[in-house]
Amino acid sequence: MTVRHVGVVGCGLMGSGIAEVCARATLDVVVHEVDEPAISAGRDRIERSLARAVAVGKLTTAARDAALHRIRFTDDLADLHDRDLVVEAVVEDEIAKTEVFAHLGKVTPPETILASNTSSIPIMKLAMAADRPRSVVGLHFFNPVPVLNLVELVTSLVTSEKTVTDARDFAERQLGKRVIASPDRAGFIVNALLIPYILSAIRMFESGFATPEDIDVGMVEGCAHPMGPLALADFIGLDTTQAVAESLYEEFKEPLYASPPLLSRMVEAGLLGRKTGQGFYAYER
Ligand code: 3HC
Repeated sequence: MTVRHVGVVGCGLMGSGIAEVCARATLDVVVHEVDEPAISAGRDRIERSLARAVAVGKLTTAARDAALHRIRFTDDLADLHDRDLVVEAVVEDEIAKTEVFAHLGKVTPPETILASNTSSIPIMKLAMAADRPRSVVGLHFFNPVPVLNLVELVTSLVTSEKTVTDARDFAERQLGKRVIASPDRAGFIVNALLIPYILSAIRMFESGFATPEDIDVGMVEGCAHPMGPLALADFIGLDTTQAVAESLYEEFKEPLYASPPLLSRMVEAGLLGRKTGQGFYAYER
């Protein structure tokens, strides 16, 4: 099956990136957000990212205009009724995501693939909220979506073989991503490794062992990571980092996944990283 009409639910950091790569792959995209201010913020995010792609020479202005032309916005989930595939990318919260899947199950036809970009919530839980769990699959992208090549393909115990084949083909052939197959366990492959690493860095700082700068320089200069773990936590968003840690902890009950108190306090204080201008570092907004 060739996907021509894509829906994206949520236009935050991840949803905007997913909508952008789909439009750049010449697909027709409808993006859902909850209200006009959220739509406007999402549209701005996509425009800024496309402008950056032009500035770094990865996109022509004509291709940018064509991509923007392929994206429509709506605040009504029923407008996704004619989509071949819908990617859910709302906040990393199980209740919010299951509500979206319950709706999508009703407004889309049986042949529509329903994918979640969840970072950590088992796909089985989301699939059971839709009335046709065989059509539900995980397609987990990485931020920034236009730059990072990976997609984790996550199949639940009941995802149909056709859904898996079509979803892989969509990510690999149509979007040009590198796909890895992950089991349906909280955190999948990448976050099950990445989140304990970030949490260890937070504990290291919290215990007074080292400064954020020295921790990050250590990993950038010593291990050639593009960013250190604390800068990366700010980049992902400390609320998302904590939410993923909580899903991992709920699933495995292992201390390495437990949110350090400092992370919890920073989230409670609204110090969420780049998106709020302050996390482990301060950012200009
Ligand atoms: N479209 C296409 N390409 C773009 C682009 C855009 N909008 N913006 C930048 N690029 C390209 C640049 O041309 C450059 O490509 P090149 O290497 O071929 O020249 C490359 O992307 C890097 O861009 P810059 O040099 O301008 O930027 P930096 O060097 O500052 O890199 C970064 C920024 C890409 C964010 C890099 O620091 C990075 O990769 N950091 C790690 C990010 C990461 O680990 N993300 C995963 C988070 S985990 C996650 O998402 C999962 C979730 O579930 C939590």
